Amino acid sequence: VTDIIRTRTTSGTFGAGGDEPYHRALRDGHDAVRLRPKGARGSDAGTLLPVSRYLGAATRIERRLIGELPGPVLDIGCGPGRMVAAALHAGHGALGIDVSAAAVALAVDQRLPVIEGSVFDRLPREGLWGSALLIDGNIGIGGAPMRLLRRCAELVALGGWIVVEAHQDATRNTLIDGELVDASGGTSAAFPWAEVGEAALRGYARRAGLEPVHDWRSPGGRVFVAYSTRS
Ligand SMILES: C[S@@+](CC[C@H](N)C(=O)[O-])C[C@H]1O[C@@H](n2cnc3c(N)ncnc32)[C@H](O)[C@@H]1O
Repeated sequence: VTDIIRTRTTSGTFGAGGDEPYHRALRDGHDAVRLRPKGARGSDAGTLLPVSRYLGAATRIERRLIGELPGPVLDIGCGPGRMVAAALHAGHGALGIDVSAAAVALAVDQRLPVIEGSVFDRLPREGLWGSALLIDGNIGIGGAPMRLLRRCAELVALGGWIVVEAHQDATRNTLIDGELVDASGGTSAAFPWAEVGEAALRGYARRAGLEPVHDWRSPGGRVFVAYSTRS
């Protein structure tokens, strides 16, 4: 556990409000949106969102991972739905859920089974999913990793898997009021977010009663860990 920054003041959702830089980045397909602590200054503050990855097809490591999961697969914060498409292609039942109307519209345009809403809402097939995904840093959703892991444990079946992509800095454990900002200065309303590396993730998972069952590592340094509810 390294730096824990607590500057929460609001409870908005990811990238909404303001002038919607996330929505515009999805629409225009550019990677110039940064997620940064609210009010941080400087053009290199925070992390660039790889929006073109979200808009593309699943990568090799993502397809491998999907092929090794128990289905059906629930992709939490699925964006335009590339992991949902990969899960269907691998022969799993699948559903994506996302709070972003713009992301859901892009998925629906591709006829993908994606619904608009929050992971904390009542969802279809609660307790019956073989796997739940928190990819692309989505362990950050809600800014409370333990609460999110516990929610995922309710969503999967006993012995089901929760797959979390850890922050590439293994020691990262940062809780913030985040905001999205684009190159022209467009800024979203603030929302609670977390960045969690492998070391902190281990602790959160243990305290949520989850056991590590598998991991995948890409040559580029992406780390995915699957945790299981005890069966
Ligand atoms: C870092 S992006 C990841 C994008 C995505 N995995 C993809 O493949 O395009 C985070 C995503 O989580 C969504 N999100 C944020 N809060 C959420 C919530 N409470 N429930 C569901 N989705 C949420 C955002 O709208 C956004 O699409």
